[in-house]
Parts: sequence; C-alpha cells; structure tokens
Amino acid sequence: HDKQHLVQALLEWYDANARILPWRSEPTPYRVWVSEIMLQQTRVEAVKPYFERFVNALPDVHALANADDDELHKLWEGLGYYNRVKNMKKCAQYCVKHYAGSLPNSYELLKQLPGIGDYTAGAIASIAFHLPYPAVDGNVLRVFSRLLVSEDDILKERTKKKFQNIIKEYIPIERCDAFTQALMEIGALICVPNAMPRCNICPLAEDCIGYQSHQAQRLPIKEKK
Ligand code: ADE
Repeated sequence: HDKQHLVQALLEWYDANARILPWRSEPTPYRVWVSEIMLQQTRVEAVKPYFERFVNALPDVHALANADDDELHKLWEGLGYYNRVKNMKKCAQYCVKHYAGSLPNSYELLKQLPGIGDYTAGAIASIAFHLPYPAVDGNVLRVFSRLLVSEDDILKERTKKKFQNIIKEYIPIERCDAFTQALMEIGALICVPNAMPRCNICPLAEDCIGYQSHQAQRLPIKEKK
C-alpha cells in the first residue's frame, strides 16, 4: 500500500471518468457551498435541477443574504430538511457583515459559520480554495475503511476524526480539489455501498488492502453506539 501510487491512480481515474456536474464547471466558494449543502441529504441526480435553479435565482452570497423566506422556501421545496437553507441564509448574512460578502478562505473560519461543519468546511477549503483539508463523509469513510481494512465503526464521531487525520496524509498539495472530488466520485461510482462494490473495474484495487484480502464487501463496520 503505497500512498503516492494510490493517489496517482485515483487522480488519473478521476480525470478520465469524472461526471460533468453543474457545480464542477465553475467551482466558486459559493457554488461549492450550495452544492455540498444540497448533497448532504439528497442524491446527485435529484440535486442537479435544484442547484441550477438556486444559483440562477441567487447567484452570490449577497443575493442569498437578502432573499426573502418565501422565495427560499420555494427554491428548496422538495429537497427537505428546510433548516439547511435557513442556516445558509444566516451564514450568508454573517459573511456579508464580517467578510464583505465572501466565504472566508480559511478552514477554521469556515467551521465557525452556521451550518458548516468539518465536512462542508473541508469541501469548500479543498475544492474552492485549493487548501489541503479532507472532506470526510459516509462515502469517503466507506472507501477508506475498505482500502485500509478498518474495523472502526464509521457511525462514531471518533472514527471520522481518525480518518480525517489519516486522509490528510494522502492529500496531493497541488491537486487538493481533484483529490476531494475523486474520493467522492469513486465512492459514488465504484466503491458503492453494500454487497457489490465494483472491485473488478476499480483503479485502486491494486492498492486496496480490503480487495486484496477479500474483505472489501463486509466493510465498512456500522454499529452505532
Ligand atoms: N456528494 C457530495 N459532494 C459531492 C460532489 N462534490 N460531487 C459529487 N457527489 C458529491
């Protein structure tokens, strides 16, 4: 298991296979933020039209900060978890007041904003600002549990922290953005949940301890507390 070899295989695969998604064509901090919040509880295909409509109606932090609640409700209707967009408006207002209408280009400052936790801060920092932070969601936990044969329960907060630290060591400094998205992509297209990961077509199979030891299918461990 060679980190550099794995990262190179991952990025080459991503460059050749990444889906064309609306938030990828122009990964500004605002667009990355909106897309990651939408994608937290909703599938990619369902998010696409909502994302396009939302960023057309509200193209930047200022527009969102000044949006009225009825309009927000309509733009979000059908996505569910309406609290997400209420927090986004609060966050936008905070950024107008304190950061001249920009999202701050600092992982620590991003994490202090309403509705932005480790995952979203890592996604914005790496994808939009090219900073070396990981964005660890359930997909990334599954991929790394299999790669490393981890018996840690991925539903535990402690496991997430542990993997954040492990994954930091893999981040290629010159391609932080692609690395974050490539992990999400391999989790969505190849290293899929449940019984049948597509190990036969996985670019990481050679570097995957789970695959090499025939344990990928039984991982990750999900037990809860
Ligand atoms: N799921 C969460 N974030 C994603 C992204 N940026 N691209 C594709 N799927 C995702």
